[in-house]
Amino acid sequence: MNRDQKYRRLEQASPEEMAALKKKVKESPWRQTYHIQPITGLLNDPNGFAYFAGEYHLFYQWFPLDTYHGLKYWYHTASKDLVFWRNVGIAIEPEEPYDTLGAYSGSGIVKDGKLHLMYTGNTRDDDWNRQPFQCMAVMDSHGTVVKLKEPLIGYVPAGYTAHFRDPKVWRDEDMYRCIIGAQREDLTGTAVIYESPNLSTWRYAGEMKTLLDNFGFMWECPDYFELDGQGVLLFCPQGLQPQGDRFRNIYQSGYIVGKPLDRDTLDFDHGVFHELDRGFDFYAPQTMEDDQGRRILVAWMGQPEIGYPTDSHGWAHCLTLPRTLELRSGKLVQQPVVELQKLRGTRREVQDTLTSEMKAYEGLRGQAFEMICEFNPVNAEGVGLEIRTGEMERTVIRYDIDRQRLTLDRSFSGEKIDSRYGPTRSCRLVSRHIKLHLFVDISSVELFVNDGEEVFTSRIFPHPDSQGIRFFVNNGSAGLKVVKWDLARAVNDMEGNE
Ligand code: FRU
Repeated sequence: MNRDQKYRRLEQASPEEMAALKKKVKESPWRQTYHIQPITGLLNDPNGFAYFAGEYHLFYQWFPLDTYHGLKYWYHTASKDLVFWRNVGIAIEPEEPYDTLGAYSGSGIVKDGKLHLMYTGNTRDDDWNRQPFQCMAVMDSHGTVVKLKEPLIGYVPAGYTAHFRDPKVWRDEDMYRCIIGAQREDLTGTAVIYESPNLSTWRYAGEMKTLLDNFGFMWECPDYFELDGQGVLLFCPQGLQPQGDRFRNIYQSGYIVGKPLDRDTLDFDHGVFHELDRGFDFYAPQTMEDDQGRRILVAWMGQPEIGYPTDSHGWAHCLTLPRTLELRSGKLVQQPVVELQKLRGTRREVQDTLTSEMKAYEGLRGQAFEMICEFNPVNAEGVGLEIRTGEMERTVIRYDIDRQRLTLDRSFSGEKIDSRYGPTRSCRLVSRHIKLHLFVDISSVELFVNDGEEVFTSRIFPHPDSQGIRFFVNNGSAGLKVVKWDLARAVNDMEGNE
């Protein structure tokens, strides 16, 4: 693909081209029903997530015209309850000299009754060398967005390459601070801190000092916050080698927890790096604190540099459901926000004891549903379930008691994704009983294990008729309790009042 094609602007597409693209999207059998997804083209990172003027505002990286990573816009969605989302339209267009080749990721913060959106402007010079700027756009309570004429930070500090992006801003008592993902000149990843008294003038404070000096070649989308008096840094290190069950995706997304960041020395005294999610499709998470004091996370349900089956349908990717974050024994626990219960429709319940068998239940099936499934007590070698089953298809979740290992297997989940990264994801889990809380949409599954101790987030692309659900117990017996709800539609494909 040539540059002109890659960086095509929305207005360069004819009405006929857009109509054809929208038709293709509409005919895709994998459009989601309650996850945020692009009306056309490619969605990636969530951006600018904030509670402002009585609503949650969530933006995302968007290339409208195709499913590769082309010219990025910020697309705006809004919701009163984190469940029903309205497509507002484009919030930030790449059009200034400082963001000609894309309005890249960034964050939002409310000041003086306005939502300030700080993001990275992507540009290249005449020799096609990358040059990033940190920029700002300001949205008022009517949704009007005005971009500042000049970038806030127009340089990369000495010692770092042009891979310098994704500012996440927060308010401390004394100051605003932001953290930016960076690559050192020795090609290792890190994050740096800037400080500002007013959000407009920024001073480089230095590099955040962690114990992870040689941990991947670039850290994307850092997010620092404090929870229960502890400091938490989320970030996406690129270039880690797989280690057993860990780091199996092309790029990783995880966190470290420690004493709050020392604002003077920038020392961050922290524990080990944990992955945030154990599934195949999770990247670039962003958090915000809402008006109820909850720390809420949303991520891109996708991975960079990987083809997906909807590419030929003119759209790619969606966002994850919003999840609350809590710390439990030094680890982050994620739970779907309670508001999602509003989507619950028809409810079905099953209680049974299974003995070395696989079983399905009358009327228990579906394409888009929530299900809580508990195996307790367990006197068996393994327990699990299969969802979206059809003649040749199934998505399997299995807990191997002896090996204390939980596995999500999408070998037979329908249309293949990228075979380079394997068909299963697993993690160690020590528990005598198991609770699996699933949110299944037309082409995804989000699995919260034992009240959010682990989460597996994955796209799956089964045939629309594959709607079966089965439960199994291997070599022994186990009690089974299931509650399932059909879920209502919460997103639509229309923009504004279209
Ligand atoms: C992460 C990322 C960010 C960048 C954005 C561009 O997926 O590469 O680092 O700002 O996507 O779309």
